[in-house]
Parts: sequence; C-alpha cells; structure tokens
Amino acid sequence: MIRSTPESPVQRTARVLRTQASHCDTLGSPLYAGLLRHAADDLLAAGPTAAVLDGHLADPGRSALALRMLGGVHALVLTGRAPELAGFYPTAGGSADAGPEAALAWPAMRRVLEAHAAQIRSWLDHPPQTNEVGRGAALAGALCYLVAETARPVHLVELGASAGLNLRADRFWISGAGVSYGDESSPVRMPGGWAGRPPPVRPVDVVSRTGGDLSPVDPLSQDGRLLLSAYIWADQVARMERLRGALDLAAQVPADLRAEPASATIAGITLVPGTWTVLWHSIMQQYLDAEQAREVADGVAAVGATATESARFAHVTLELVKGTPQTPVEVTTWPGGTRRLLGTAPPHGLPVTWTA
Ligand SMILES: C[S@@+](CC[C@H](N)C(=O)[O-])C[C@H]1O[C@@H](n2cnc3c(N)ncnc32)[C@H](O)[C@@H]1O
Repeated sequence: MIRSTPESPVQRTARVLRTQASHCDTLGSPLYAGLLRHAADDLLAAGPTAAVLDGHLADPGRSALALRMLGGVHALVLTGRAPELAGFYPTAGGSADAGPEAALAWPAMRRVLEAHAAQIRSWLDHPPQTNEVGRGAALAGALCYLVAETARPVHLVELGASAGLNLRADRFWISGAGVSYGDESSPVRMPGGWAGRPPPVRPVDVVSRTGGDLSPVDPLSQDGRLLLSAYIWADQVARMERLRGALDLAAQVPADLRAEPASATIAGITLVPGTWTVLWHSIMQQYLDAEQAREVADGVAAVGATATESARFAHVTLELVKGTPQTPVEVTTWPGGTRRLLGTAPPHGLPVTWTA
C-alpha cells in the first residue's frame, strides 16, 4: 500500500500562496501571481518569507494570508519605504519590467521582506479591507432606473459600506452602451463602465448618505487612505485611480458612516414621504452568518412593509451567487416587493452589462 506523506504546515502554506497566485493570474495581476510563486519557493527554502509568516502557518485559508502579506508590502512601497520595489509597482509610479513570472521584481521584494519583517507582520493580524469603487457603477445605474420609475429625491443607505465610497456613486461619471451618466469632471471616471441595454439616464438627487460597517474605514484619514490603497493589487492602476478619485470625492461629499452591524443599520431606517429610500449592498452578504443573514432579510421585509406610494423603498444588491462568475444586479421595490434583475457584473463591478 502506498501511503502519502502528510503535508507539513510550511508545505500547506506554500500551496496557499500558489493558490492565491492562480487567483491573481485569473483576476489580472500577473505581477502578484509571479511574486507569490517566488514567495512560495522562498518559504519552502526557509528564506525571509518564512520569517515573515512564522506563527501564521496554521491560519485558515479564508484568512487570505497572502493578501495580508502583500498589503503590508504595498503599504511600505506606497509610503516610500521600499524604493527599490517601487520601481516595479505601477501603482507607485514604477515602470521597470518585472520580468517573466516577476523574476526581476522578486529579489527586490525578498529584500523588503527581510528588511521590514516586523512591519509586514503587523499586517497579518487583520483581514484585507477593500472598498471597490467599480461596484458603484451598478448602483448608479439602479438609481437611474428607480428615479425614471418615480422621480423622487433619494435617501441612500449602505450595509457593509467599508469606507462608504460608493455612497457617492451618483457623483461618478460612467459611460458605455451609447450613453453617459454624471458629471464628466467627476474625480471618479469609468469609461466603458456600462454595456448592454443601458439604464434610462436621469439626474439623481441624493439627499442623505448613511453607511454601516463592522470595521468602517475613515476615507478622510491618512491611515484609512493607506489601508484601502495597500490592498489594491500593485499592477492594477485603473483600480487605484478609481480609488484615489473616490477618496477625493469623499472629501467633497459628506456621508454618515457608522461602526455597526448590518442589522443595526437597517433598524435605523425610517421611510420618508415624497422620497425613495434605497438600501444597497455589494459583496458583503457572504460575510454574514446564518443568524445575521436572517436578521437582514427580516429587517428588509419589515422596512418594505412600511412603504407607501409616497414613501418608497428599494433594495439594490450586487452579491455573489455560488457557481456563477457573473454577479447579478438586482432590485426589489416597495410597495409591492417586486424583484427584478437589472443586469450582471464581474465581482469587481466593471463593466455592468444591463439586461432589463
Ligand atoms: C468585501 S467588503 C465589501 C465592501 C463594500 N461593500 C464594497 O463592495 O467595496 C465586505 C465588508 O462587509 C463588512 N461586514 C462584514 N460583516 C458585516 C456585518 N455583519 N455588518 C456590517 N458590515 C459587515 C466588512 O467589514 C467589509 O467592510
């Protein structure tokens, strides 16, 4: 009988890094894919990666250990403390050829891991925190549908809002499918952000912006801006540009961002006559346990039950569905509770293909 040798914690973590490398390949980050494959080899060879990840070899796969480490490295690059690696990081103005499989960038990264191990290790204790501005393209289109249906000012509420950047989605500029939405001088510009049968473009008047998150990020603080920037993948410049634009917009357009669970955010909603209240969330449902998910569903139904022809309510979602690569953009409106599929988008939001 052939017995397979059990995998050691080091081998398992090297496999985790390689798995993340494949995801980076699929999701358009060849730089990170290459760096992670080198890091996996370096871990097996007891190099600086092993010292950085020491004590984390039993972390569960869902903790995204590789992305935590890369976030810590990126923060060093973005704050000017890793100039040699910055030359390979397009988000930091780098333009040097990283080489096949990032072979030329890896020695610089290895030196950063060696020189700044303690600093990078401090990023391993926290989950990656992102706020994907591209997802706002779905919300802006959904708002157009709602306002075209009944022209009313909008109270916007977001669950799992992170830094609340998409609470300003009505102020983004988006084009595609033969139309354009918004102010062309917006700091957030998404050319080609819409495809398919475009929404009926309308001016959207958002009169209040409220978000809740278990770990909200202050988009106006240096720390908050660095945190969100560090988790952008370093060769995804368009994402970084959208993020920087949205951070600037957040400084111009205030929003009320609260540290609270989703159920508390819903419990705070009171519908207002003469307006739409639009409850929105994107890529957050998967983080709710069964009880929280039930509380959210019950809370939405309870608010919906208070809606009238004057005080209208809409629930707009961009949430993953297991087994499908595209994410549905759905809206349910009250009174009535009618659910509609408006379109689909990739998990990062762009482009939205409208089908309604
Ligand atoms: C993947 S992020 C998405 C953030 C944002 N919705 C976006 O699309 O960019 C998930 C967010 O949900 C938040 N979150 C997780 N569980 C939550 C809960 N029970 N209540 C409120 N926020 C929660 C996390 O803190 C995180 O900011």
